[in-house]
Amino acid sequence: MINSPFVTRHSKGGMNLRMLVTGGAGFIGSNFVRYILTHHPEYGVLVLDKLTYAGNLENLAGLEANPRFQFFQGDICDEEPLGAILKSGVDAIVNFAAESHVDRSILDASDFARTNVAGALNLMQTSRKAGLGRFLQISTDEVYGSLGPTGAFTEATPLAPNSPYAASKASADLLARSYHCTYGFPCLITRCSNNYGPYQFPEKLIPLLITNALAGMTLPIYGDGLYTRDWIHVQDHCSALDRVLHDGLPGEVYNIGARQEKTNLEVTRLILQVLGKDESLITFVADRPGHDRRYAIDPAKVERELGWKPEIAFEDGMRRTIDWYLQNRAWVEHVRSGAYRTYYERMYRDRTRTLAEL
Ligand code: NAD
Ligand code: DAU
Repeated sequence: MINSPFVTRHSKGGMNLRMLVTGGAGFIGSNFVRYILTHHPEYGVLVLDKLTYAGNLENLAGLEANPRFQFFQGDICDEEPLGAILKSGVDAIVNFAAESHVDRSILDASDFARTNVAGALNLMQTSRKAGLGRFLQISTDEVYGSLGPTGAFTEATPLAPNSPYAASKASADLLARSYHCTYGFPCLITRCSNNYGPYQFPEKLIPLLITNALAGMTLPIYGDGLYTRDWIHVQDHCSALDRVLHDGLPGEVYNIGARQEKTNLEVTRLILQVLGKDESLITFVADRPGHDRRYAIDPAKVERELGWKPEIAFEDGMRRTIDWYLQNRAWVEHVRSGAYRTYYERMYRDRTRTLAEL
C-alpha cells in the first residue's frame, strides 16, 4: 500500500505523508486517526475539529504526546485556520466533519447546510487553490434514499435523499463531483452504511440502547422496529477508507458496507441478551418523520477494484462494542451529562407527538 502511486507522488521520499483529518474528534474520525497512526508509523496526522456537542477530545485521549499527531480547534467553514494548516504542508484531506444525526436535522437543518455543504465547499475551494494532492469526502449511503424489501445500493443508484441531513450530504457529493469535472480536483467519495463501535455518541441507536440499558432506562424504538440498517464495525470502515485514500481513483465513488442487515429490533434484542437485561425495557415510541425503511450497500466495487473486505462479524463486533462501553464508564458518564440530558428530554420526553411537532 505504501507503494501506491499517490504516496509515491506526494510524500517526501515515499514516506512522511501528512494528512489533515477534519472532524477527527468525532466517532469515526477519531477511530480513523488511531487507525492511521497505528498502520502507517511514518505518517503525520493533523486534526481540525470545531468540537461541537459531538466532538470530544476524550476520543483522542492518549495521543497528545505522539509527535506525529497535532490537534487544532477550528471550523471547516473558516478559510483562515485552514489556509494556515495547508501552508504547513498537507498531502491529503479526509473530511469527516459534519452534523451527522438525522433526528437533529429534522428539528433544525441550519447547521447541516452550513457545515455539511458550505464547510465542505470551503475545504475544497481552499485546498484546490493550495494544490492539494488528494481529498477524500466521507459521505453516506443515506444519499440514495430508502430501499424496498430487496436489492442493494450500488454506486449507480440515483441520489434520492429523504432527510435534511441526507440532502446536505448529497449536496456536498455533487459539489465534489463538480470540482473533479471542472478543475480536475483529486477528490474521491465514499458512501458507507451504518457504523458501530467505540467512541460513538449515544444519540445514535446502538450506543443509546447500550447506555440506556446499563442505566436501567427504557429503550425507545421508533415505529414498528422493523426498519433495517446494514451495520459495519467502524474498524472495517477505517480499513476501507485507508484503501480508497491510497489506491482509489480520483473522481470515483466507492460504496462501503459489510452485508450485515439487521432490523432495529434484532439489534435491540442482541444488546439485551448480551447485557442480561429483560425485553420489557423495549418501548415503542412515535416514528421518525420520513423514516427510511431499509438500507443495504453493495460493496462489490471496493472489494473487486481495491481488494478490500470486512473482517468483523456483527455479533462479535457487538460483543466487543458492548464490552468497550462497560469498560469506559467515565467516558459514558461525561458524554451523557449536561447538554445530552437536555437533548434526550426534548427528543424522547413525549414521543406520542411526532418529531416534526416537537
Ligand atoms: P460525529 O457527529 O460523531 O462527528 C462529527 C465531528 O465533526 C465532530 O467531532 C464535530 O465536532 C465535528 N464538526 C462538526 N461541525 C464542524 C465544523 N463546522 N468544523 C469542524 N468540525 C466540525 O459523526 P460520525 O458519526 O463520526 O460521522 C463522521 C462522518 O461520516 C460524517 O460526515 C457522516 O456523514 C459520515 N458517516 C457516518 C456514518 C455513521 O454511521 N455514523 C455512516 C456513514 C457516513
Ligand atoms: O446509514 C448511514 C447513516 O447512519 C449515517 O450517515 C448517519 O450519520 C448515522 O447517524 C446513521 O443514520 P441512521 O438514521 O440510520 O442512524 P440512527 O442511529 O439515528 O438510527 C438507526 C435506526 O434506529 C433508524 O432506523 C432509527 C432507529 N432509532 C434510532 C434512535 C436514535 C430508534 O428506533 N430509536 C432511537 O432512539
